[in-house]
Parts: sequence; structure tokens; C-alpha cells
Amino acid sequence: MRSYATRMATPADLPDREERAAALEAAGYNLFDLDADRVFVDLLTDSGTGTMSDAQWAALHRGDESYAGSSSFRRLREAVDDVMGFDRVVPAHQGRGAENVLYGTLVAEGDRVLNNTHFDTTRAHVAANGGEAVDCPVPAARDPDADDPFKGNFDVEAGRARVEEVGAENVPVVVLTITNNSAAGQPVSVANTREVAAFADDIDATFVIDACRFAENAHFVAEREAEFADASAAEVAREQLGYADALVMSAKKDGLSNVGGFVAVDDGLDDLLERVKQRTILYEGFPTYGGLAGRDLEAMAVGLREAVEDDYLAHRVEQVATLGAELAAAGLPIYEPIGGHAVYVDAGAALDHISTAAFPGQALACELYLEGGVRTVELGSFAFPETKRPEYVRLAVPRRTYHREHFEHVGETATAVVERADELAGFEIVDEPPMRELRHFSADLRPL
Ligand code: F0G
Repeated sequence: MRSYATRMATPADLPDREERAAALEAAGYNLFDLDADRVFVDLLTDSGTGTMSDAQWAALHRGDESYAGSSSFRRLREAVDDVMGFDRVVPAHQGRGAENVLYGTLVAEGDRVLNNTHFDTTRAHVAANGGEAVDCPVPAARDPDADDPFKGNFDVEAGRARVEEVGAENVPVVVLTITNNSAAGQPVSVANTREVAAFADDIDATFVIDACRFAENAHFVAEREAEFADASAAEVAREQLGYADALVMSAKKDGLSNVGGFVAVDDGLDDLLERVKQRTILYEGFPTYGGLAGRDLEAMAVGLREAVEDDYLAHRVEQVATLGAELAAAGLPIYEPIGGHAVYVDAGAALDHISTAAFPGQALACELYLEGGVRTVELGSFAFPETKRPEYVRLAVPRRTYHREHFEHVGETATAVVERADELAGFEIVDEPPMRELRHFSADLRPL
């Protein structure tokens, strides 16, 4: 059993109700525009918001800031090799930097990229290179009540049908995102990973795993997939990642770091590795630092090893489950099973008197802040104007940061909001940026 003693205290104060109302209005009812010190429990994202361990803080002091050939890079490469089984590693400043480098080398005008579900930045990088992002989730992914242990899986039949339509020569890349963030953080089985690898091989595509949350995924596999009942998460992770030709990683998640990412390439793909390095020099920095300080590489190297410890993962997933139980007890409809990094609430069902056009998810997110200083993110019609998605609000849990009392506070907040759900009104947008797909980061709204 694992818990954490906290030896660095960051005060968090709950502003009073009038202050919260004023902060919300000043932010244009957009929670990205709130000052973080006006937030009491921050569940906006699990990305880069976690707490580093004492071992990571100690390693920071060893940072070798050499421009080329830093020994910190060597330690990162050894960690990626030990934990993930890849020894050809090119760092990047964060996940989307790694995506820019990798997809910029693999995707050309008119290509299709298949993925269990593209995360937003992945979709944007495919589009930026002239490609079309095609999602192939299993049907159960869309059903928040379906009882299935691997709702994050890739629908290989759907993938094959799409290849029939467009021709294998137009599908150079197949991606598997583990866990599947855009499908409520649901895990992907190793059996499915093998099938996707075989499918990619059949059509001569590069098989990429987006490994942001590979350790949480491995924990679920060890719990739920019979073949791995006796395996540790570390063993599952190496097995599962071993099927990929390349990895793209945001270390802000399962690297337990506040910044950083990398691309890793399988042995034998020398040409791909070379192209990745060249593009890294153009966009990120010399390939032994990739836009990071040497000390950041050290934090990632230690964090990756900690992320696959079974006791850490049990504690982590239990925290997310505790939050889910609090929200369900408050009467909010949640996506089940609960995923690895976040709880997704179906605001369309919770506030069914508010139409999609009036953003029920944003109404719920604003009310959770107003009631209890809790910051969440809307991932429905406001965030994704063109794609029809359920009206989700995501409550993501930063790693090793919050305690039971925080989750209880969120539960009490949710209970108060549910009690007056009928009185809540929707929102309209008063000002939005030219790129509509990015509007939820900066648009201003007003209550109806
Ligand atoms: N891939 C996945 C599956 C992600 O969830 C993210 C980030 C990225 C790539 C990009 O990584 O942020 O380091 O550039 N997800 C965060 C989130 C932002 O809140 O879910 P990044």
C-alpha cells in the first residue's frame, strides 16, 4: 500500500462566493481565463500538474546542461529503454512538440491517419500536415454505461473498412492512444494492441503508440486481462509498447514531470530516426535536449521509473475512483467504468433542460467553480464545435497532489449543484477566436 507524505506545502484558499462570482465574470465565463490562485481544487487537467517526488527533485541538481551529448540525456535514454523497451529516443519540449516532429515526417497531403481516437493536438497535427484524422473507436466507447473492460480499444474491422475505401497507400500511419483520453481515459488491451500491430503491418503503415498514459493503461491490463493476471504493470508496459514502431510521449502525464516529452523509434527504422532528428533540430533543439533543460531530462528519467511502480499506480487509480464515487453519490451521471486519469460527467443528461446550443457542459463547469472553487473542463459542444460528442465535463486528477478531503469537497460541491440543477441556465458565446476548434481556450461567454 502506498501513500505520500507532503513536504512542500502550497496554500490553497477558497475565495468567498462574491469573489468567485466576480472572478468568473471577469474571466468571461471561461475557466481557462481564471487566475489559478482563485481556484481551490484544480481538476482542469492531469498534464504537468502533478507533484514530483523527492528523488526527482534530487535528480534535478544533477542536470547536465551541455548543449550536445549531455549525460542527463543518457540517463533519460536508459530509463526509456528499461521502462519502455526503446533505446532510440529524441526528446521534445512536450507531447505536441513530439507530435509535430513525428507526424511532420510521416504524414503528407491527402493521407489518412487512423487512431482509436485522436486527441485534439494529434488531430490538429494530422490536419496541419494536410492529412485527415479518422477515429476508429469500438462501439462500446460511445456508451457511458456499457460494461466492458477495454472501451479504449481500436475497432480493427472499422479500420480495415476505411482502408478498403481509401487504399492502403493513403494510410501511412496507424496510431493507438493508450489510455484513450478522448474516450474517457479508457484502457486498451494487449490483445487489441497485437491486432492493431498486425493490421498496420498488413497495410505497410507505421504503427505509433501515443504512450502518454501507458502506465495507467498497463495497470488496467494487469487487473483485467486474464493473460496478465500475474504480471506487474512494468512487465505489461514493456510487452504492450514492444509492438509499436514508434512511440510519441508527453512526459507531463506518465512521465510524472511538469514538462517534457519524446519520440522513441524501434531498432531498424534508421531512416525514420534520422528524419525525426533532423526535424527536431529545426523545431525543438539539438536531439540530445529537444527544447528542455538537462534537469528536465533528469526529472523525466526518474519519473518514468516511478510511474510503473505497482503501489504508485494502485494509489493513483484509487484516487480517480474515489472522485468518481463522490460524484456518483452526488447524483451526477458519470462515464463507467471510471478511467485512469479523470472522471467524465455527462452534463447533457445532468442538465437536460439546457439545449446543446446553450452548452450544458459549460453551465455545469461554471457552476462547480461558483459553488466550490472547483475548476474542470468542458469537452462537449463548446470545445468541439464541429464534432458531435456527448456533453462531457472532465474532472482530471493531478498525480500525487490531492487528498481525500479534496475529493470530499468536490463531492459536497457537486451535491449542492445537483440540488439546484433545474435553476441553472445555459450560455452563449460573445467573442470567439478565428480558429473555432481552439475556441474553448479563449472564447468569452455570457449566461443566458
Ligand atoms: N496525446 C494525448 C493522448 C494527450 O492527452 C495529450 C495532452 C497530448 C497528446 C499532448 O501532450 O499536452 O504534452 O503537448 N493532453 C492534455 C489533457 C493537455 O489535458 O488531456 P502535451
